[in-house]
Amino acid sequence: MTSDQDSAAPAAPLTTKVKPPAQILFCKGCCCGKTERGLPEVPVDRLKAIWKSEKLNKGVQLTISGCLGPCDLPNVAVVVTPQGTEWYGRLDGDAHYDAIIDWARACLAEGSALPMPKSLEPNRFERF
Ligand code: FES
Repeated sequence: MTSDQDSAAPAAPLTTKVKPPAQILFCKGCCCGKTERGLPEVPVDRLKAIWKSEKLNKGVQLTISGCLGPCDLPNVAVVVTPQGTEWYGRLDGDAHYDAIIDWARACLAEGSALPMPKSLEPNRFERF
C-alpha cells in the first residue's frame, strides 16, 4: 500500500525551537510521591512554583511524569542532556531537591547543561 507521503521527496529532519540545555523528569506515578503509602513526598507544587517564578525552563525543562519504571527506588528522577541520560533514585527530602533546584539555576545562568551535583552521586543508578 502506498500513500502520498511514500512518493513524496524525503522530508527534512524534524527540528524543534524549544531547546533548553537540559530536561529533568520527576516521577510521580504509582509509587513515587505516594506519601499515603509511607513513601517520600515529591514536592511538585514547590518545584513548579520555583521553575515558574525563576523561568528555569529556559535552563532545564521541568517535567512531572507518570511511572518511569524503577518503582523499587522511589523517588525517581531522570536528567536528559546532550551528554546523555542519568537516572536518580531514592530522592527524599529538601537536601536532594534543593541541590537539584540549585543545579537548574546554575544551568540557566550558564546557558548549558552542567554536571549534576556531587551530593547526588549516591542516588545515581544504571537503568539499563
Ligand atoms: S512510580 Fe516512579 S518509577 Fe514507578
